[in-house]
Amino acid sequence: MNGRSVLLVAFAGWLVAPDANPVARATMTPVALRTEYLVDPLAIDTRVPRLSWTIDAGDARGVLQAGYEILVASSREKLAANTGDLWSSGIVQSGAMNQIEYAGTPLTSRREAVWKVRVRDQNGAVSNWSAPARWTMGLLTDSDWSASWIGDPAPSTDNVAATTLRRSFTLAAVPARAIIYATALGVYELRINGERVGDHVLAPEFTDYHTRTQYQAYDVTQLLRAGENVIGAYLGDGWYAGGIGLAQALIRKPRNIYGDHPRLFAQLEITSRDGQIQRIVTDGAWRTTRDGPIRSADLLNGERTDLRRDMPGWDRAGFDDRAWSPADVDKTVKTALVAQANEPVRITRDITPVSVSEPKPGVFVFDLGQNMVGWVRFAARGSAGTTVSLTHAEMLGDDGTVYTENLRGAEQTDAYTLRGTAVETLEPHFTYHGFRYVQVTGLAGRPRLQDLVGREITSSMRETGTFATSSPLITKLWNNVLWTQRDNMIGIPTDCPQRDERLGWMGDIQVFVGTSIFNADMGAFFTKWMRDVRDAQTPDGRFADFSPQPFQKTLAEMKRGDFMGVPGWGDAGVVVPWRLWQQYGDKRQLAENYQSSKRWIDFIRSNNPDLLWKNRRGNDYGDWLNSDTMKDSTIPPKGGEVPKPVFATMMFAYATDLVSRMARVLGNDGDARTYGALFNDIKTAFNKAYVSADGVIEGNTQAGYALALHFDLLPEAQRAAAFAHMLAGIDAYHGHMSTGFHSTYRMMLELARGNRADIAYKLVSNTSFPSWGYSIANGATTIWERWDGYVKGRGFQDKGMNSFNHYAIGAVGEWMYRTILGVNNDDAHPGYEHFVLRPIPGGGLSWAKGSYESIRGKIESSWTQTEGHFTLDVTIPANTTATVYVPAGAVDAVTESGMALRSATGVKDARVQDGAVAVEVGSGRYRFAVR
Ligand code: BGC
Repeated sequence: MNGRSVLLVAFAGWLVAPDANPVARATMTPVALRTEYLVDPLAIDTRVPRLSWTIDAGDARGVLQAGYEILVASSREKLAANTGDLWSSGIVQSGAMNQIEYAGTPLTSRREAVWKVRVRDQNGAVSNWSAPARWTMGLLTDSDWSASWIGDPAPSTDNVAATTLRRSFTLAAVPARAIIYATALGVYELRINGERVGDHVLAPEFTDYHTRTQYQAYDVTQLLRAGENVIGAYLGDGWYAGGIGLAQALIRKPRNIYGDHPRLFAQLEITSRDGQIQRIVTDGAWRTTRDGPIRSADLLNGERTDLRRDMPGWDRAGFDDRAWSPADVDKTVKTALVAQANEPVRITRDITPVSVSEPKPGVFVFDLGQNMVGWVRFAARGSAGTTVSLTHAEMLGDDGTVYTENLRGAEQTDAYTLRGTAVETLEPHFTYHGFRYVQVTGLAGRPRLQDLVGREITSSMRETGTFATSSPLITKLWNNVLWTQRDNMIGIPTDCPQRDERLGWMGDIQVFVGTSIFNADMGAFFTKWMRDVRDAQTPDGRFADFSPQPFQKTLAEMKRGDFMGVPGWGDAGVVVPWRLWQQYGDKRQLAENYQSSKRWIDFIRSNNPDLLWKNRRGNDYGDWLNSDTMKDSTIPPKGGEVPKPVFATMMFAYATDLVSRMARVLGNDGDARTYGALFNDIKTAFNKAYVSADGVIEGNTQAGYALALHFDLLPEAQRAAAFAHMLAGIDAYHGHMSTGFHSTYRMMLELARGNRADIAYKLVSNTSFPSWGYSIANGATTIWERWDGYVKGRGFQDKGMNSFNHYAIGAVGEWMYRTILGVNNDDAHPGYEHFVLRPIPGGGLSWAKGSYESIRGKIESSWTQTEGHFTLDVTIPANTTATVYVPAGAVDAVTESGMALRSATGVKDARVQDGAVAVEVGSGRYRFAVR
């Protein structure tokens, strides 16, 4: 808080300059109100929710928020009358606009809170009140729940049919309000009076169900009526009882990993107009059957549906359920119920296919033109009893049929047995696939293109980035990165969405987290997932290789290594919260992950007293999928891999450095010093053991230099030499990368930092093998797991590990935002209170433009470069300041919208710095031109 007021005071002088745009007063409005990162959430279970907003200040320049006032009321009416009966913050002199902690009347279960905010600018002008926003508290204590876990009497041990459940009840009148809280051990879909409840898919999503299960809340007021009502549910196996990636390979058990008996848990709370509360909960009064149409449903294998078993009207009043059984009540379930913290997985877009072919008689292959995730809706025509099969795959084989070998054990096939009525609309419920192609068999005739629609699912956070350049290749690469992110954020950040894996591999997101945060609002998503990460940590401090980690206990019993504690993978437990702090200023994430981060460092340290991470590296994947793992490479075949102890020690140093920074932010100076000293000691040990006097790092790999530079591990005197060795390493690979998961994007960033963005541009523009461009030249619409996933003339890489939808090397997206658009956070002012905008033109691009919707509002950067002329258009959000670097040698070589730089409104200072003109600006739009 102190830092903020100092900043305000320091800037006050220039911001009250007489030419400040008076329009600011009239147009300044707080907008985009969020609670715990979410828009109007229905179930919050932190008792201290944090409130955020941004400010719309039109085109006004230099707008800073000098104070805010928040009102929180128990009803809309009270709020409209400006009565903050729950909390009135009073006028708070502060520029803070994110994660303001609620500090009113203690919040209890079900409490509805409506809130608004108004702000004051640095001139004392006060905005109007924002439009109201709201949040509702979830069920906070055990005694709030009266529901039981119910299911079909028989377990789901052998891929049996999904369970259908129903309960009918009577209401005297239309209710004033009705909320249903629901979850499952398994996956569920709720229906009330024939209507689908909510638009979540695959709820309650993947967590360690032994520890915690997320519940969802839905407002169903509109679905209820006077008289008989029916609530129904489909209940599938999901992650709880169905197939989970690697299960078969690791523990010789393909399914039933958390349990073998799916359960539903729901509590419908109906408030009548006179305030009476009636509850309908899952209990023995529900009826259940397995005779419904979903004959089996598995996340990896797909869904089998027999439409002849449809039970018309089962989810409406008047249905005869006497043949169904009473639901089985399970009193033994132990899992903590927590409100879903992240945006639900939803169907976010429909994809229209681009072609359909018939490579073999009766075998039709649809091409969606995009490697996507979800399923398809298909309009089928056929006679009763015929089965239509849809197999989903990423690639085609030479004969034009789908290539499924790289899916390993995941069948990715949905099959429907038809009723034989006119047109039957087919769509699954409890599975998902990673695919671009769908092969359909069992049809009576040739399907039409419009018979099939791809339904993309993803965790539905807001996308926050846009990007385009004059290079179609680079623009396409950015698009492929974004798609790979969409395809892999399914409640957890997965490695890939297609083969029998789909796990929250920590190394992959450790490198991709930065890119992901530019592409989308990841705050809520990672708040949820970091719990999964902590849930999986071992008592001795090791983070898992993937989180959730469903196999830990069984693996330990089988003495098969436990998939815990790997350099570069475990580190995500430290790196992800740190990135949330940098980008969102989220201090609570640091606090929540601080002890676990320390325990991770302490584990490594206690097992490696000489501070070189030689012992206890678990499965030790190293700088995964570097060039040494390529098959039949035409590039010098060996020499890409950093020796594993060298890699591990660098990761150890990096994570230790972050823990000391976390401690400093959290005000724990003692720890900050301890871990700061440890970081220095690791560096010393690292340099002594692995770096020669002439700056050669053991292994002499591009990756080694990139990582050591990026983590600031080298003495100042050796940086230049190491940088030169890195460039020599790129030359030795004929201007290509030999790097793996961890070093690829970091080398790109270091090239830019070392003033050799020209080389980074070459690497990103390469189309010869290995490069991102090579994949694009071969039709990629998502990022490949391996540089040589497919090579012309040679064909596919090893089918055992060859995903075409893997974001790790797509972390180059971060380089694109930071270097091409130039958007860089400033650690001294996290959450974009201040940031650096430094685009570095190059690669022959004549223009680039894009934006990032930061937590303080939208940043835009757009530049054009034509012989001798450079123009940069930027937008700085209100209540934010930026240092904009314009590539020019002298201050008077740059104008702002035709004016001398120093006299332009909103420009505080301009100076030549680091080979460019550095301009300090406040919010607003600016156009800089280099004459
Ligand atoms: C996954 C990776 C993961 C790796 C660990 C693979 O099977 O797909 O992306 O990080 O295993 O080496």
